[in-house]
Amino acid sequence: MDKGITFRREIESDNAAANLLIRTAFWNVSVPGCDEHYLAHKMRTHVDYLSDLSLVAIKDGEIVGCIMYTKSKIVSADGNFIDTITFGPVAVHPNFQAMGVGSAMIKYSLVLARELGHKAVVIFGYPRYYGRLGFRCGEKYDITTEEGAFAPSLMVYILQKGVFDNISGHFEESSVFHDLPEEEVALFDQGFPPAEKLEDTKSQREFQVLINLSYKCIDTPV
Ligand SMILES: CC(C)(COP(=O)(O)OP(=O)(O)OC[C@H]1O[C@@H](n2cnc3c(N)ncnc32)[C@H](O)[C@@H]1OP(=O)(O)O)[C@@H](O)C(=O)NCCC(=O)NCCS
Repeated sequence: MDKGITFRREIESDNAAANLLIRTAFWNVSVPGCDEHYLAHKMRTHVDYLSDLSLVAIKDGEIVGCIMYTKSKIVSADGNFIDTITFGPVAVHPNFQAMGVGSAMIKYSLVLARELGHKAVVIFGYPRYYGRLGFRCGEKYDITTEEGAFAPSLMVYILQKGVFDNISGHFEESSVFHDLPEEEVALFDQGFPPAEKLEDTKSQREFQVLINLSYKCIDTPV
């Protein structure tokens, strides 16, 4: 994929355009409206934000995609942990979706993450999409959700071989993902063009199914 699209780190003067792009891409996709633009806004000043890995995709001088990263970790039952990283929001403007921009941007960020010495990327995402990019379900590495269950949406990309050979545990994402009060989102959203909230769309139903899928492995005696 070239199509005149380049990637570079997001800089401060990109913030407003990136927020609008995120809001446009996510609007009504998982829930009526969205909160990802407010998440992006809060993330940039959060202690877990990884600015050197947060990128924009540029076409003819305009931002057509973006990806943001934060610190995360895998915590074992005995309290040991290993540092990982997590991306999201990741968004491509609807006019440029399904052209390979998202895949190319994610792959570019994974190469950069490896160069920067990170060990593994752990995300919640769509297995069909991220599986194609080399992500595998957490169960392969004995990695669970915070509730101790395996989930098809919990996906792992290894940057350093063998990183999970001696540790398994549950995934802990940055607290920034859990600090998005509805009233703050609504207030922030007032700074964006009006947009209709749609209920019960196909993508929202698909999202509900995905986030409710999890399972616990029970050891069976031999
Ligand atoms: C998800 C997203 C970043 C992918 O970027 P993109 O540039 O459209 O993706 P690519 O062109 O690299 O890949 C397109 C393929 O991914 C598929 N795809 C896109 N979103 C998908 C999803 N949520 N679940 C499964 N597959 C998906 C497309 O159907 C297409 O498949 P095809 O090649 O078989 O037709 C972009 O579609 C987007 O911004 N979506 C809205 C926001 C969002 O859902 N972000 C991700 C949250 S996990």
